Amino acid sequence: MLRPDYPITTARLLLRPFQPGDLDDVVAYRGLPEVNRYLFSEPYARAEAEENLAKWIALREITAEGQWLTTAVTLDGRVIGEVDITLRSEEHRQGEVGYIFHPAFQGRGYAREATEAMLKIGFEEFGLHRIVAECDVRNEPSWRLMERLGMRREAHLRHHGIFKGEWADCFVYAMLAGEHRNH
Ligand SMILES: CC(C)(COP(=O)(O)OP(=O)(O)OC[C@H]1O[C@@H](n2cnc3c(N)ncnc32)[C@H](O)[C@@H]1OP(=O)(O)O)[C@@H](O)C(=O)NCCC(=O)NCCS
Repeated sequence: MLRPDYPITTARLLLRPFQPGDLDDVVAYRGLPEVNRYLFSEPYARAEAEENLAKWIALREITAEGQWLTTAVTLDGRVIGEVDITLRSEEHRQGEVGYIFHPAFQGRGYAREATEAMLKIGFEEFGLHRIVAECDVRNEPSWRLMERLGMRREAHLRHHGIFKGEWADCFVYAMLAGEHRNH
């Protein structure tokens, strides 16, 4: 069973599980087209946000590979984004991280601060050996963040899937536990 020791505090942020009262904050960023440009999702209508929020709240811990946790990133009590961690393989101790932030809170290093905290949990609390992150190659803010985090670009997958109606390329970035210790 894997569950971070919440709440997680960083220099400026507090990360905690989502709560039903976060709905307005979630709609505020998940409802925006620009936030969804390189996500598999489309902008959430309120009902869809409510449905997904309920799922994130219900997923309280990881008990099997393939499961993930979505964590609320808050600044002064407001949810400004989310970071998630997935257990890809239990046997091989492989994980994956992801992040989504409200545009009003991008460009200030918050995504980096929150994802750094999640990488630390993945390596130090969950005992993962390798953590990956993937993005569409056109999602420059995302792969630049991976590089700032100290992740290495391992692959450029050509036409790895049909994304929003067109073949898309994907970058795979990764970090090993030893690299994290030395970062
Ligand atoms: C991907 C995403 C999370 C990146 O967010 P971001 O805010 O650019 O990333 P960071 O938190 O690392 O912030 C870095 C920027 O903050 C600036 N910054 C300002 N103050 C800072 C501080 N105190 N510390 C660090 N950086 C700071 C940096 O200079 C950098 O600016 P630049 O991009 O102009 O060089 C964001 O673009 C996003 O949510 N996109 C929509 C969802 C999405 O596509 N998610 C990824 C799917 S794969």
